[in-house]
Amino acid sequence: MMHKVCQLTATCLDQVSHMIKPGVTTEEIDEFVYEFGKQHNASPAPLNYRGYPKSCCTSINHVVCHGIPNKKPLREGDIVNVDVTYVLDGWHGDSSRMYPVGTIKRAAERLIEVTYKSLMIGIEEAKPGNRMGDIGAAIQEYAESERCSVVTDFCGHGVGRLFHDAPNVLHYGNRGEGIEMRSGMIFTIEPMLNLGRPDVKVLRDGWTAVTRDRSLTAQYEHTVGITDEGCEIFTLSPSGYTLPPYIRGD
Ligand code: MF3
Ligand code: CO
Ligand code: CO
Repeated sequence: MMHKVCQLTATCLDQVSHMIKPGVTTEEIDEFVYEFGKQHNASPAPLNYRGYPKSCCTSINHVVCHGIPNKKPLREGDIVNVDVTYVLDGWHGDSSRMYPVGTIKRAAERLIEVTYKSLMIGIEEAKPGNRMGDIGAAIQEYAESERCSVVTDFCGHGVGRLFHDAPNVLHYGNRGEGIEMRSGMIFTIEPMLNLGRPDVKVLRDGWTAVTRDRSLTAQYEHTVGITDEGCEIFTLSPSGYTLPPYIRGD
């Protein structure tokens, strides 16, 4: 069931890539996420989650995470994260990706690349016998070596029957620290990296998290499962998409 729901989430994110262009509103993306779920008997976990009003999160430019879809059109040069979580028969699949709107600045392109790579470097540490701190340390070391800062106010999480379960998966830390990973554990890794300082604040809507210095920020998220051999990425793109431009990566 986790495979099934995670692949539905990934398929949705594949399709979202064809929608992203200047003039499209994040509310239109949200409607697509809702309808696509409905067609597959899945519901969007964010809708009414702790009072959250929409079906997905759309976080633009200096918005770190939990941006609420609205009627404002995307503009050429924006970068937007779309974060989708479906629930199918009570099981949750959680993933997010960055999308460039038209042509973006080289700095934005580089941030997206470094953030994606930091997620994949974190995933390489996800195997039985390793500790959670190995994931966080690998992400932090790589991000900082690329002069990006790691957001410490949000983390990855266990996922399955619950949307946000134990353990917390920190995107920073020290090797050898934290709980030991064991075959069968399923959790998300979802690093948020900033070009400026790591500090964030939440706006008065109670959700939208932004960088305090308004610097550009990016995030990628996968749901992964620990296996006897290492780990499996449950939310891999069925189209083979990795980094933008999203064209088949094989
Ligand atoms: N999908 C987000 C995560 O990666 C959580 C969003 S909660 C919401 O954990 F309420 F803002 F949707
Ligand atoms: Co998550
Ligand atoms: Co998510």
